[in-house]
Amino acid sequence: MTTYKIALLKGDGIGPEVVQAAHQVLEAVARKADFSLSFEEALIGHAAIEATQNPLPEETLEVCQKADAILLGAVGHPQYDEDPRRTVRPEQGLLSLRKSLGLYANVRPIQVFEELREVSPLRPEVIAGTDIVFYRELTGGIYFGQPRERRDEGNTALDTMIYTRAEVRRIAHKAFTAAMARQKRLCSVDKANVLESSRLWRETVNEIARQYPEVQVQHMYVDNAAMQLIKNPRFFDVVLTGNMFGDILTDEASQITGSLGMLPSASLGDGVGLFEPIHGSAPDIAGQGIANPMATILSTALLLELALQQPGAARMVRQAVQATLAAGFRSPDLAHAHTPPAMVLKTEAITQKIIDFLP
Ligand code: IPM
Ligand code: MG
Repeated sequence: MTTYKIALLKGDGIGPEVVQAAHQVLEAVARKADFSLSFEEALIGHAAIEATQNPLPEETLEVCQKADAILLGAVGHPQYDEDPRRTVRPEQGLLSLRKSLGLYANVRPIQVFEELREVSPLRPEVIAGTDIVFYRELTGGIYFGQPRERRDEGNTALDTMIYTRAEVRRIAHKAFTAAMARQKRLCSVDKANVLESSRLWRETVNEIARQYPEVQVQHMYVDNAAMQLIKNPRFFDVVLTGNMFGDILTDEASQITGSLGMLPSASLGDGVGLFEPIHGSAPDIAGQGIANPMATILSTALLLELALQQPGAARMVRQAVQATLAAGFRSPDLAHAHTPPAMVLKTEAITQKIIDFLP
């Protein structure tokens, strides 16, 4: 029987709670399937800074490099917001991890659960049938561009938005490949009316598009894309975009589904992949046991499918989440005025339901 090694990076805030939940679901799935899993925990983010002064200790990187897949909770701590000039920050751990492992493709599916139509701030008829997948470039752009510094005695600050043709080509190939397996529509989002890096982006996407003649390509400025996403989300199939635009648009798109607490993601490169919820560390609710674990649990479905090539097990996890919602159970973030209080379950209880609903 194959044994897969999973690195567990719980991180900060609600990270440990949601990873714990996802860990239990993975154990339960493995018991039903014909593979086994071994887990190794490592520190990242604020937790790692506290223990080692380093948001991504060398040991964590080693654990990740040896693993077949990485499951991460979230990083971030309010302590750093009081002093924005601090350069050692929890987020740095995640950014260094992405960079060190070459995880250049961030895949973020946005799907509407029928059962949660009421939760979205958008009207049900607007969101019905939404099925988008974002391909966000993850190791380039303004997040990593040099120089980035203070000048003029701290009174001037700069970051650099930079893309190379090679960086755009490799993420574009991933997005076009995804489009071929979906509705064959790809929308590339940029700001080519203003930014030179976006003009290179657009030119390169057009070059790659010639290798995928069946895919219908559209270019959209990011401001317009932000508007179209809430005006007509069904318009989008695959969205291909850079690091910062993708960061912003995927938080926006999460509201189509009703809660950031439902959205999984995969960060892929040429080696080991990283799987994590889109949401952050949510310090306001950390430690209360009320976090919605479903984004992390759904991230394990992506992990099973994309890293371990276990599509059957991935389906089981998705079905269990679906069944839990269909039975009327809700995590606190998904509850609304008409949800019977008895159906609102905290992290551990809703995780147990999901495990019980595994086919
Ligand atoms: C995300 C997060 C990260 C990002 C932060 C935590 C650095 O917002 O994964 O979307 O900006 O990429
Ligand atoms: Mg973000």
